[in-house]
Amino acid sequence: MPSVGTSPARADAVAKVSGTALYPGDINRPGQLHLKLLFARRPHAVIRALDTSRAEALPGVVAVFTAKDVPVNEYGLILPDQPVLCGPGSANAGADRVRFVGDQVALVVAESEVLAAYARDLIRVEYEDLPVVSDARQAIEPESPLLFPEKGTNVFCSYRIRKGDAVAALRQADVVVEGEYHTPLQEHAYLQPEAGLAYIDDQGRITVVVAGQWTHEDQEQIAHSLGLPRDQVRVIYPAIGGAFGGREDMSVQIVLALAAWRLHQRGISRPVKTVWSREESIIGHHKRHVFHFRTRWGATRTGRLMAAEVDIIQDGGAYAYTSTKVLGNATLMCTGPYEIPNVAVDSRSVYTNNLPGGAFRGFGGPQGLFVAETQMNKLAERLGIDPVEIRQRNLLTEGALLSVGTPLPPGISLQQVLEACAERSGWKRSASGWMRPPARQPEPRPGRNVRRGKGFACGFKNVGFSFGAPEKCWATVELRGATEIEEVTVRHAGAEVGQGAHTAMAQMAAEALGLPLEKVHLVVSDTAETDDSGSASASRMTFMAGNAILGAAQQALAKWKAEERPAVARFVYRPPATTPYAPDTGQSMPNFAYGYVAESAEVEVNTDTGEVRVLNVVCANDVGRAINPQQVEGQIEGAIVQAHGYALLENFVMKDGQVLTPHLSTYLIPTALDIPGHVESLILEHPDPQGPFGARGMGEMPYLPYTPAVIAAVREATGVWFDEFPLTAERVLRGLGKLD
Ligand code: MOS
Repeated sequence: MPSVGTSPARADAVAKVSGTALYPGDINRPGQLHLKLLFARRPHAVIRALDTSRAEALPGVVAVFTAKDVPVNEYGLILPDQPVLCGPGSANAGADRVRFVGDQVALVVAESEVLAAYARDLIRVEYEDLPVVSDARQAIEPESPLLFPEKGTNVFCSYRIRKGDAVAALRQADVVVEGEYHTPLQEHAYLQPEAGLAYIDDQGRITVVVAGQWTHEDQEQIAHSLGLPRDQVRVIYPAIGGAFGGREDMSVQIVLALAAWRLHQRGISRPVKTVWSREESIIGHHKRHVFHFRTRWGATRTGRLMAAEVDIIQDGGAYAYTSTKVLGNATLMCTGPYEIPNVAVDSRSVYTNNLPGGAFRGFGGPQGLFVAETQMNKLAERLGIDPVEIRQRNLLTEGALLSVGTPLPPGISLQQVLEACAERSGWKRSASGWMRPPARQPEPRPGRNVRRGKGFACGFKNVGFSFGAPEKCWATVELRGATEIEEVTVRHAGAEVGQGAHTAMAQMAAEALGLPLEKVHLVVSDTAETDDSGSASASRMTFMAGNAILGAAQQALAKWKAEERPAVARFVYRPPATTPYAPDTGQSMPNFAYGYVAESAEVEVNTDTGEVRVLNVVCANDVGRAINPQQVEGQIEGAIVQAHGYALLENFVMKDGQVLTPHLSTYLIPTALDIPGHVESLILEHPDPQGPFGARGMGEMPYLPYTPAVIAAVREATGVWFDEFPLTAERVLRGLGKLD
């Protein structure tokens, strides 16, 4: 009865389809109060005074909390640089400033949501505005205003890679392609905006029911800000309506816990609930980072890469969030999956008064790979070499050194994904290399000037935490029964964010134990029931959870055979260690595993209207082993649709630190009418030597090559290279010289 490699219905499918699944916003407890947040709504200011008296005097208002109520008024996943609440009276220096429009200033707790919102609007805040820094390229200038004057600079992270001598090699190259690229913000736009409920549980723990990506990290950050030991805080995830990196950082977690705990101290032990509106969600959580790149790549006449030089400025927004890690990934990915003997990369993260940048599917990979793959497509064109062929000549192979001076771990399948995608997309291979006939153009029709093109890109995506970040994953397996195993309980903290992780975990447990899936029962996503399994991010959950569950299952089986009843085993999986960038050279072992991908896109551009339609996508993914092929296909299609929004539609507009597109009526995400006409998902299974059943991670990978493939296709259709996107009709017409 194999489980791995089959596609049983998802464990949560019926509840989600029938509407019985409870998301945080659906959960209510008797006697609950309602919390509303006062957001700063101004990008840079000092709060001189805060008057909450009118709000507090309103009947039905139970409490108003401000900075002075926060025991340790700082938090942050990587650096604790963000106040929980901004305002005077805080022991933490710098907490009296607001640095972006979504900074949180006060909490109102009232008998109803309407009352809480009404009272919030009665709070008077006296702001003294400060100069706004809204462009990261200006923020690095010495005369720029500083967000954190005590730091003396807006630059909060920088990396430097030096391999060989890029400057000398660029002088010797037969051809050099220069480029300047800008990548846009993107909103996660998960179906379910932030929401949650906090209460004191029967053991006196402050319990927060919320949607996140890492229960134990939420617990840690809440405990830190409240100045409490971890075990006094409990975090539970019910159904989660999407995450994509957008729930990696705190939103409602700390303020909910703070309110419930402070009320409890005043003798009011009532649950506190909050639900953000879509607008609050859009200004209240981080976005995909804006990046600015300048680069030069050099190659021989035969298309062998000689050198790449890349300069990167990342707009971190007002607080660090995961910027430093996202920058690390972009710094590695910006030279693509190629063997390049000479590389120089300089990168920096910069504070501005924009919305914070943070984790979003691909984690810096999409930005870095857009640059690498567009540079490759331009080099191919310049040299008159087919774009697949030029990649063929430069792909990283076993033992070849990355820019950081170490090889990829064994099991590289770039060649296989390239071949699979190219062949399926119409390329032919002969003695002279890969070739594709030019796109067939539609018959011209009066009033409908459309041109077609096809583009290609490939890439890789790390699996798991990078650059020395501690990486481990916990699981237990319990076997119950008398003579035969009747029931299996798997405990694991991993978040089911909608990707199907829990179904895949149950399948892997069943397979490891040789039992039918129905016998496996999961206890998940509750810090009181499980230990730390790490986050649902970095394409890591199948790989990490699978290895942890496999380890626990094997030990539990051994105990079962030794007649232990119940047979219980705990296992913590630790992958091979990674190391951080060395300061001057970038030398490192960045990651312990990767997945590989190649993608083609065929587009049709209406040169009168500027509309770009994507007709066909072929996406070849080496997933190592498809634990659940249908879910793998779902991830591929979902990633492509999300990348389609990024490449073509989603035009997030900020001006002077203010968001001009705070609704889904102005920030347009793809609908069924916009998405690619046809997506062909090719699933390759070249096992990762360390993956559970050979599985690699794959949730982010198909997203990465989409934008450069579409941009190359638009180039073939129109003759124009777009170095900035999204390719809205306006941008396309401007590129075609049809708008002033
Ligand atoms: Mo994801 S961007 O690794 O949460």
